[in-house]
Formats: sequence, structure tokens, C-alpha cells
Amino acid sequence: MNKTIEDIITRRSVKKYLDKQVPMELVEEVVKAGTYAPSGMNCQAGKIIAVTNKEMRDRLSRINGDILNKLYPTPSGHGDPFYGAPVVLVVLAKKEIGTRIYDGSLVMENLMVAANALGLGSCWIHRAKETFETEEGKQILKELGITDEYEGIGNCILGYTDPSGLMPQSPRKEDFVVWVK
Ligand SMILES: Cc1cc2nc3c(=O)[nH]c(=O)nc-3n(C[C@H](O)[C@H](O)[C@H](O)COP(=O)(O)O)c2cc1C
Repeated sequence: MNKTIEDIITRRSVKKYLDKQVPMELVEEVVKAGTYAPSGMNCQAGKIIAVTNKEMRDRLSRINGDILNKLYPTPSGHGDPFYGAPVVLVVLAKKEIGTRIYDGSLVMENLMVAANALGLGSCWIHRAKETFETEEGKQILKELGITDEYEGIGNCILGYTDPSGLMPQSPRKEDFVVWVK
């Protein structure tokens, strides 16, 4: 099979990670692939906050977990929403651009496929929009010099896959494709 197609098909959402750092060169390669996603009218509406710093990674995880717990309350909480992954690539997109959600989602897919191509696990973790609507989230953007023109699209977590956490891949639904030949 063609290697690119194989990397797309074998990509999985990884929900358990090994306690192992990802070399910076690999993170940079993944991030670079993200920046080459297509965008409506070539606006390049996206922005990636590439977080390898543990303190910031834990801060984003805590905010995300608090939002998750408000949405789906459980007495013991949901645990680390980033599943122990050491790296988080936060994708934002410029609010004023009409195609921002599509543009940002394509950045997310590029990141996840690139991660798989390089032997890394990844997963889209939601609630990026809500994260940067909190006071603390807005403060983080301010600290990073990012204006409030941007909204959160998704968090791409990144790390080495713990194979014991991988669930079997779901079969594709039968009516996924309507052929017109
Ligand atoms: C828009 C979107 C939001 C998602 N949010 C989460 C999330 O917050 N937490 C999580 O564990 N997985 C999340 N996922 C991953 C899905 O659970 C996963 O893609 C789905 O189960 C299919 O598995 P696969 O990616 O291995 O094919 C999200 C995926 C997408 C596309």
C-alpha cells in the first residue's frame, strides 16, 4: 500500500501513553506538517500553540478537565483528559474567517497523520474553544502574545503509544460511500 494512505488508514486515537518524552525534532516535524494544511482562500487561519512545557501542559489539562466535569459531572472526575501524553499541540483559528473550523480541522488531521507517520500516537481532545473562553484560558493567550482574535479548534495530544490502551479499530459503516459510477 502507498505509505501516505497507510499512515492515514492506520492512524488511531491513542488514549494511553508511555512515560517517555518525544524528541523535539519529531515534535517540530509534526508541527510543520500542520502548517501545510490547506485553508479557505489560502487565509492560513490557523495557529498552533506547541506545548512541550510540562507546567503549561498540566495547566491546559486541568482547565480541560474542569470543563469536562462541568459537562459530565462524576464524583471522582474524569482523570487527565490528555491521557498522560507529554505534548499538546493546541490548534486555534482566527474568529473572523468563515472557514476557520474547516481550516483548523485540517491542521488537526495533518498533525495526527504526521504523528502516525513518525511512529507517534496522537488524539484529538476537544473543548479547546471552551478552554480559551475561560478567564484563565484568555490569560494564557495573553501571556503568549496571542490576541483574542483567535478561538480554540482542538487539542492534538502527542506521545509514544502504550499499546495496552489501544482499542480495536471500528469497522467502517457500510453506507459510508455512495458511488456514482
Ligand atoms: C472532533 C473530535 C473531538 C474529539 N474529542 C475527543 C475527546 O475530547 N476525548 C477523547 O478521548 N477523544 C476524542 N476524540 C477522538 C475520538 O474518540 C476518536 O476519533 C474516535 O473514537 C474514533 O477513533 P479513531 O480516531 O481511532 O478512529 C475526538 C475526535 C474528534 C474528531
